[in-house]
Amino acid sequence: METKRRIAVSKLSKTFQQGRIAAVQEVSFEVYDREFVALIGPSGCGKSTVLNMIAGLIPPSGGEILINDRPAQGISPEVGYVFQKDTVFPWRTVAENIALGLEYKRLPRAVRQQKVAEMIRLAELEGFEHAFPATLSGGMRQRVALMRTLIMEPEILLMDEPFGALDTHTKLRLHQALLKLWSLHQQTVLFVTHDLNEAISLSDRVIVMTSRPGRIKTIHTISLPRPRDVIAIRETAEYAELYREIWHSLGEEFAKNGV
Ligand SMILES: Nc1ncnc2c1ncn2[C@@H]1O[C@H](COP(=O)(O)OP(=O)(O)OP(=O)(O)O)[C@@H](O)[C@H]1O
Ligand SMILES: [Mg+2]
Repeated sequence: METKRRIAVSKLSKTFQQGRIAAVQEVSFEVYDREFVALIGPSGCGKSTVLNMIAGLIPPSGGEILINDRPAQGISPEVGYVFQKDTVFPWRTVAENIALGLEYKRLPRAVRQQKVAEMIRLAELEGFEHAFPATLSGGMRQRVALMRTLIMEPEILLMDEPFGALDTHTKLRLHQALLKLWSLHQQTVLFVTHDLNEAISLSDRVIVMTSRPGRIKTIHTISLPRPRDVIAIRETAEYAELYREIWHSLGEEFAKNGV
C-alpha cells in the first residue's frame, strides 16, 4: 500500500516588496503520512516563509501546495501551527491558554481538564497552571504555546523552531515528550529548526535549504531506529556519520554567508 501524501509543495516561490526580495525559490518536497520531517537552513533562508505559505497565512508568488492531495485554500482545520515567536495570550493563565482551542470543541468539562493536566505534565509546567504569562520565563511561555497546539491533536503539525529559546537540558526533555506524543497520535510533522542535533534526533528526513533565496539543497534520510532515546542516540556511530554528512551540506551554506 502506498503511503498517503499529506503535504506536497511544488516549485513554491515567494518574493517580497514587488519582487525585489526573493525569499523562496522553486521549493519542491513532500511529507508523507506520519512522517517527521525537519527543514533546516541558515537564518533568513525562507524557512518561516515556507511554513507560512503551507499554513495558508501568506499566498505564494508561484508554485503549488497540496494538503491531503487537495489544493490548499487558506487555513485548513487539519493543520496545527506552532509559531516561531511564542504567541500566548497575556490575560489568560497557563491552563487557560493551553485549553483555548478545546473550548471550541464540544468536549465534556472533565475531559478538557484531564487533557490540559496531561499537557501541563508533559511540558513540566506543574505548579504554574494558574500563573499568567508575564510571570514566566521565555522558555516556559514557548512550552505553553507548544502545548496549546499539541492538545488539539492536529493531523498535520507545522512547528517553527518551537524549542529555539530553550536550554539543552529542557530541549532534550521536550524532544522526548514530543516524540512520545507524535507516536501516540500518529501525526505528520514538518519541523523548522537551525539546530542540526535536534533535526537528526527527531526526524525521519532532514531537508537542507540553501541560503536566501531558499532552495532545496539536499534531502537526508534518518534511518535511526525508533523509539529513540534522544540522549543515547547521540553517542552512536550512525548518528555521528549522519551529522557529518548533513553538516557538510549545511556548512557550505554558512560559508557562503561569510562565517
Ligand atoms: N513580510 C516580509 N516583507 C519583506 N521581507 C520579508 C517578509 N517576510 C520575510 N521576509 C524576508 O524573507 C527572507 C526569509 O525570511 P524567513 O523569515 O522566512 O527566514 P527564516 O529562514 O525563517 O529565518 P530564521 O531562521 O532567522 O527564522 C528574509 O530575507 C526576510 O527578510
Ligand atoms: Mg524563521
